[in-house]
Amino acid sequence: KTIYLKDYKPFGYLVDSVDLTFDLSPHATRVTSRIAFRPNPEAEDREFFLHGEKLKLISARIDGNEITPEVTPEGLTAEAPDAPFVWEAVVEIDPAGNTALEGLYMSNGMYCTQCEAEGFRKITYYPDRPDVMSVFTVRINGTLPVLLSNGNPKGKGDGWAEWHDPWPKPAYLFALVAGDLVATSDSFETVSGKEVALNLWVRPGDEHKTAFGMEALKKSMKWDEDTYGREYDLKVFNIVAVDDFNMGAMENKGLNIFNSSCVLASPDTSTDMNFERIEAIIAHEYFHNWTGNRITCRDWFQLCLKEGLTVYRDSQFTSDMRSAPVKRIHDVIDLRARQFPEDNGPLSHPVRPESFQEINNFYTATVYEKGAEVIGMLKRLVGDAAYAEALDLYFARHDGEACTIEDWLKVFEDVTGRDLSQFKRWYAQSGTPRLKVTEDWADGSYTLHFEQTTLPTPGQPEKLPQVLPIAVGLIGPNGDEVLETKVLEMTEAQQSFRFDGLAAKPVPSILRGFSAPVILERETSSAERAFLLAHDTDPFNRWEAGRSLARDSLLKMATEDAAPDADYLDGLVQLLRDDTLDPAYRALMLGLPGQSELAGALAEAGQTPDPDALWQAAERLRAAQAVALGDLMMPLYDSCRIDGAYAPDAEQSGKRALGAALLRLITRQDDGAVAAAQYAAADNMTLQLSALACLLQAGKGHAELAAFYDQWKSDRLVIDKWFMLQISEAAPEQVAATATALTEHPDFNWKNPNRFRALFGALAGHHAGFHAAGGGAYRLLADWLIRLDPVNPQTTARMCSAFQTWKRYDSDRQTLIGAELERIAATPDLSRDTAEMIGRIRGA
Ligand code: ARG
Ligand code: ZN
Repeated sequence: KTIYLKDYKPFGYLVDSVDLTFDLSPHATRVTSRIAFRPNPEAEDREFFLHGEKLKLISARIDGNEITPEVTPEGLTAEAPDAPFVWEAVVEIDPAGNTALEGLYMSNGMYCTQCEAEGFRKITYYPDRPDVMSVFTVRINGTLPVLLSNGNPKGKGDGWAEWHDPWPKPAYLFALVAGDLVATSDSFETVSGKEVALNLWVRPGDEHKTAFGMEALKKSMKWDEDTYGREYDLKVFNIVAVDDFNMGAMENKGLNIFNSSCVLASPDTSTDMNFERIEAIIAHEYFHNWTGNRITCRDWFQLCLKEGLTVYRDSQFTSDMRSAPVKRIHDVIDLRARQFPEDNGPLSHPVRPESFQEINNFYTATVYEKGAEVIGMLKRLVGDAAYAEALDLYFARHDGEACTIEDWLKVFEDVTGRDLSQFKRWYAQSGTPRLKVTEDWADGSYTLHFEQTTLPTPGQPEKLPQVLPIAVGLIGPNGDEVLETKVLEMTEAQQSFRFDGLAAKPVPSILRGFSAPVILERETSSAERAFLLAHDTDPFNRWEAGRSLARDSLLKMATEDAAPDADYLDGLVQLLRDDTLDPAYRALMLGLPGQSELAGALAEAGQTPDPDALWQAAERLRAAQAVALGDLMMPLYDSCRIDGAYAPDAEQSGKRALGAALLRLITRQDDGAVAAAQYAAADNMTLQLSALACLLQAGKGHAELAAFYDQWKSDRLVIDKWFMLQISEAAPEQVAATATALTEHPDFNWKNPNRFRALFGALAGHHAGFHAAGGGAYRLLADWLIRLDPVNPQTTARMCSAFQTWKRYDSDRQTLIGAELERIAATPDLSRDTAEMIGRIRGA
């Protein structure tokens, strides 16, 4: 069944209050609800339908009178008065039997919830839609020592606790946690002087991994006050770490629940990248308190209203805490790796989708990351001051409401007087625009001609021109900037911009800071790119110049057996020699575009990518990098060593990132001697793991791999890395066999989403290994998707996207993948989640 945005209708009733009592028991938890309803003056339809799934209804009452509602697998319908009334129901649920990890479930003896998007209906009967907001009071009866819910504590005693959340909220923000947990506690004084108690709850034994998360939380709270004027609004803020969780984390009001991999950190068990990600996710969930909770979404089509904005805010936070150019480059790498394939394949959908079967399938890179890019463009178009004013107006005007993208854009229109109707196409049109650029030079006038086109995507044959903010700078022939960054506002399908009074023909630096999420197409020489690599003042475009040199070189090496590009290698050596450049930035310069990105670029150009040839090309270019850097490598590697205590800050992480990139190259020449030494001396996970990765890639490190397992076998999060690394560092022809062997390892707890993703995410992420001849990897993944689907549909459905690019490849591979997709589709009782994903991927 497909749900459409255009069918939106408000619910017939408003909810004045919700009282819930939980009598916890692993297989038979009783949920007693008492809900005050009142007719909604803004609705015509008074049908009283409450969502409810997998609930055993014990009793139902309206105004105290027992009733017998009509019950289906989706919910119940009852006769309700056209006047205020009280609904009371008792239901029984089975948290210990809930393997889907949606609703109330158990993880390692602990009760916890995940209600977004539509999980509350698995807890009790309710109008489970985000535009129904209410005040919740919760009583938990249970024998576990820690009993938590949203809001402020109201009282507790032996075997019970009560919570009251004064802020009206939709049911998807409801949360409950009960377990044997220990807290790391701290406090925060808000800007207006209110004291907030902060707790980070973990299982006993994990206490040593909470300090970093707590600091990140305090920094986030301060940053949101300083930057957006947003103050926290409850007496407590609780965070809980859970091992079994489908996603990263969840912003439940006053009680954020995190996948333990996204909050627990210590230097010996977490890498620098883990630390950076954890800081960003803590910030993200905290920022949702205003962008998501105080102002929420009218319906799930508006998901990007909270997610795009909150991702945008967390990226601003990371830029402020660390390095803005490095963060921007990371974000663009991620966008190209995850969002572009989605936007340009069978799963393509607008930032605001118009229909869905299962909303959980729309927590995508398009909604989140492209949604954030759209906000970045809006800010660039209106300017920083107008953006700040518009956000103030948004918070003032819509606090306590469930809003739409129209509401969001209206505040910008009201503040700036602009008409944003064309800009709104960014929310409605799917597909990545291609931006083609040509130039003219005559008599001191330089002209850039732009042409934008977007290819047809599923359901959208025709595309209209979008508003593109194109940040441009011009560099003179001697390397001086002759035009500082200027934002050109393109609105037409074709448009030209002229720059007069120039002494000589400049070199253009186009799309600085990646000012719009488009694919830039411009015929240019390696020499010109090398010139930008040496002289561009925009750090993003300087990196991009190197990146595009590397990309073109790899494509030519893979398809024409060309030699590595000399301009690229020369430029790279110059940059790495430049000690004024941030080590993190130099590490990024050493990176190569991902294999899948290269395959996408070939498909884009109408060619069929050959995964083996792309793999060989990358191997050869890496070897050429090592030769070109030569004697520079060891001293530079040595200079990345850090004396003193480990800190996961930008400065140290940058050095370790550069050291790791160099170690990869050094290992190609020394057979692993330096890597083995680094492994032996490592006193933190970042150094330990990067050394192990290099050794495995060189076909060595068997002893280290075994020692690593022994050292870390009791730490689930580190063992996830151990699973992942063996696959991601395997030679292509070994990947399927390695993964198969690991599925037989006693620690392969496949019902744990982190473990499942560690193994199969690495499998799907190893381009040449996943696509190795014979299709063994395709078959292995399909077997396990079929196995996981009845247990956990959400995690299964997400993993199906490994197949989304299948139409890029040759007919043998398409036949093999097609057969697996058909086999999955033909599985009896396939979940709605997986059925929708496979259907869309097959184009059915
Ligand atoms: N709102 C959460 C976040 O962005 C994500 C929760 C998604 N959950 C899901 N089952 N789709 O942080
Ligand atoms: Zn979010």
